Amino acid sequence: MKRTHYCGAVNEDHVGKAVILQGWVNRRRDLGGLIFLDLRDREGLVQVVVDPESPAFATAERLRGEYVVEVEGDVRLRPAEQVNPELASGKIEVVARRIEVLNEALTPPFPVDASWRGEDDPAERVNEDLRLKYRYLDLRRQKMLARLKLRHQVEHLIWRFLSDEGFLQVETPFLTRSTPEGARDFLVPSRLEPGKFYALPQSPQLFKQMLMVAGVDRYFQIARCFRDEDLRADRQPDFTQLDMEMSFVSQEDVWEINERLVQYVFREALGVELALPFPRLPYQEALERYGSDKPDTRFGLEIRPAEDVFAGSDFRAFAGVVEDGGVVRGLVAPAELSRKQIAGLEEVAKRYGAKGLAWVKLTSDGASGGIAKFLEAERLRAWGLAPGQTALFVADDRQVALEALGQVRLALAELLGIERTGWNFLWVVDFPLLEWDSDLELWTYMHHPFTSPYEEDLPLLDRDPASVRAKAYDLVLNGTEVGGGSIRIHRMELQEKMFAVLGIPKQEAEEKFGFFLEALRYGAPPHGGIAWGLDRFLALMSGAESIREVIPFPKNQSGRDPLTGAPAPVAPEQLAELHLKIVE
Ligand code: AMO
Ligand code: AMP
Repeated sequence: MKRTHYCGAVNEDHVGKAVILQGWVNRRRDLGGLIFLDLRDREGLVQVVVDPESPAFATAERLRGEYVVEVEGDVRLRPAEQVNPELASGKIEVVARRIEVLNEALTPPFPVDASWRGEDDPAERVNEDLRLKYRYLDLRRQKMLARLKLRHQVEHLIWRFLSDEGFLQVETPFLTRSTPEGARDFLVPSRLEPGKFYALPQSPQLFKQMLMVAGVDRYFQIARCFRDEDLRADRQPDFTQLDMEMSFVSQEDVWEINERLVQYVFREALGVELALPFPRLPYQEALERYGSDKPDTRFGLEIRPAEDVFAGSDFRAFAGVVEDGGVVRGLVAPAELSRKQIAGLEEVAKRYGAKGLAWVKLTSDGASGGIAKFLEAERLRAWGLAPGQTALFVADDRQVALEALGQVRLALAELLGIERTGWNFLWVVDFPLLEWDSDLELWTYMHHPFTSPYEEDLPLLDRDPASVRAKAYDLVLNGTEVGGGSIRIHRMELQEKMFAVLGIPKQEAEEKFGFFLEALRYGAPPHGGIAWGLDRFLALMSGAESIREVIPFPKNQSGRDPLTGAPAPVAPEQLAELHLKIVE
């Protein structure tokens, strides 16, 4: 017997036809002698009716939720009053002639049927570890299946678009050497060479650059990456990138093709038409206006310089900071905030390194509350504060003040319920090449050590390393970094100079990436690229709270897999074979 249709695909076009369906019992209802089954498969539900005269009735009576059955029957229209407009198959039902139980099923630890009926889904509220332990049941839910399908569709669109644009898909190895993306490596011990290890790739970075040396010209890969870092809602130890690299390109070329790809994916998968080009915001401006290198630009509430408000004021705390070379920055909250609300925002500011959060309100009678006695209403008005509004200030080192207010800005938007809708893509560009590592007391790369500086900034490398801009860019969507890339260094002289500035001795560079530096010496073309965090992309596209929702079999927040129990101990023989000893 062969299935003739997917359950969800049977509709009024099939009225009068015989069908054979195979699927799961979503729900059974006994009603006035009749038995109704909602039969479910990947494509949806169909109602099966079994009447007491039917030879299938005895079988139908013993069916329970999630039993796997085969149903043979005839399609007929439902009576008008029983049409269900919510369901693709809602105009018809299948009158069963034969039902065969293909398998029985235990009662699932959480219900999986509700979402298919458009009902409130209790599984949304069960403990996440339970969902992960029974992921194969969790994935039966309509919402989760829709996410799997979206993932497939987006990857398919990416393949199609990039293939049409002349990109070659190339697979790069999982068992390799460390790639410097700034996270810890996952290591794999070698059995054949005692004491030696493979590293799982943090990204295909070095391989894709070597593919450019090979003359591949345009490469892409939907690549698994491995990073042993602390987990968050948007971080997994293994995750997926759409990785790309192109030869003979400028930054503009990389941005342009990515914008068209994003536009294509959004149009085809979501029916959303994005306007091109995406805005381009220099890093320093993003920091000044939004206190973040991944600003959510779906709302305003921009940060403003506020030194003028305090000029000549007796507020010593701020004057002292400014005398020491710090800055004053402020935010206007378009509401009279309560003390409790302000205390909450102050917590946020402190969590991000600020010493506090100064505030003042403007009323029709002048400045009031907080630090009002140090301030003139006139200056506040000139700064842009209107009656009924609250000003929030931080004085600190520039970076600290801006980042703290950036976080206060986000919390404020949440607090005031400011509407955040739309798809705000933007490029954050001109990242600094280097940042000061105050723990190690040296300059370190911000992106990775193969990122090219702007040629015109090169003279600053020795004099003022902080102000050297990199040809590095991030793609940001609604406040999330969904991608990052750069134009690479393709000439050895510059690469060697970079290592010198980074304080990486020549010998160490040769040891770590000698194989790669050698490749650069064999005629490396100018090249650059990008990698999208595909899981983050998909989570945003599907409105999911965490990337775990769009990864079929993710780890939990502690890096464990409740389904397989990984990571797990191994047998002593296996350790011995790998020349490993566990140190307690
Ligand atoms: P980067 O390290 O910025 O760049 O990574 C690219 C994008 O991958 C996503 N991402 C992650 N997603 C989930 N879990 C993680 N642990 C995780 N880490 C990163 C982010 C990020 O923007 N080789 C370079 C790219 C290049 O230069 O071409 C790279 O890997 O969305
Ligand atoms: P539904 O819209 O499919 O959820 O069905 C609504 C209710 O009507 C359910 O409780 C069904 O049991 C009932 N029902 C649906 N179809 C029929 C039918 N052909 N005859 C009698 N009752 C029905």
